[in-house]
Amino acid sequence: MEHFADRTAVITGGASGIGLATAERVGREGMNLVIADIEERVLETEVARLQADGFRAIGVVTDTADYDSVKALAARVADEFGDVHFLFNNAGVGGGGPMLEPDDMDIWNWTLGVNLYGVVHGIKAFGGAMVAHGQDCHIVNTASMAGLLPTPGLGVYTASKYAVVAISETLALETADTNLGVSVLCPGFVRTGIAESDRNLPEHMAATLEEPTAEEEMLRAMVRDLVSGGIPPAEVADAVLDAVRQNRFYILPHPQYGTQVAARGVRIASGDAPLGWDI
Ligand SMILES: NC(=O)c1ccc[n+]([C@@H]2O[C@H](COP(=O)([O-])OP(=O)(O)OC[C@H]3O[C@@H](n4cnc5c(N)ncnc54)[C@H](O)[C@@H]3O)[C@@H](O)[C@H]2O)c1
Repeated sequence: MEHFADRTAVITGGASGIGLATAERVGREGMNLVIADIEERVLETEVARLQADGFRAIGVVTDTADYDSVKALAARVADEFGDVHFLFNNAGVGGGGPMLEPDDMDIWNWTLGVNLYGVVHGIKAFGGAMVAHGQDCHIVNTASMAGLLPTPGLGVYTASKYAVVAISETLALETADTNLGVSVLCPGFVRTGIAESDRNLPEHMAATLEEPTAEEEMLRAMVRDLVSGGIPPAEVADAVLDAVRQNRFYILPHPQYGTQVAARGVRIASGDAPLGWDI
């Protein structure tokens, strides 16, 4: 995609972290910004700040796990700005637990709802119209390095992100001859609010939340440390914009993990057991 000025970007999970940094980045290219997020108060604050900084931005409270909510977002964007040129399906939550845990289906449903179905809903609610308007446009879906390498203790998160890589690859192949570019973003650790994803738990889950076990607390502390030692979200935003400009598919803002990804392919082809992501 070459033209950004006066075109329209829709960014889910745009009130914080990678989404917010990318909104600012493409806003500096002159794009209209539609920030969609479930966290209403933070969304209002960030959109007001963006507007005060001179960006053309609106906020739309959206639950990406709910298809009706994403369809309502698409209708609102069409009313406000018309065609969409950049869709960033980025909203996500970090959840986890061991695969053998028998009673964590709420965590599975919530995480797959936001991380996987959120991306599916975005593609289905916006993608057809983006191809139909015929102008240069691009979809970026946020996966993770955990979408390319096995990550023990984070089974559901890993499953959701592998699936985002899979549907992004499929979409790219299906739309290769169109005006729509597609990329998948696979970062390692980035300094954002992801370790505090529980702030967005659905009400029925928040109400019955139990104290974490010692093992869960250890895993959370480790993730918090890794996230706070991660790269700044602005670096990821730069990588996203570069990939959209150059129509590159895989976006790996942490190139140091590339050899592990390549080694996984070799192990698959030779039938060897998986190795976990060496962080
Ligand atoms: N931070 C990292 O280390 C890292 C690494 C790899 C991938 N990611 C991915 O990056 C994406 C962005 O996360 P982040 O790291 O910026 O975290 P973040 O918590 O700072 O931002 C996530 C945003 O998504 C919003 N959100 C959560 N549930 C939502 C829902 N149902 N509907 C709409 N919005 C919702 C949150 O309110 C928040 O604003 C996620 O998909 C995450 O999985 C993050």
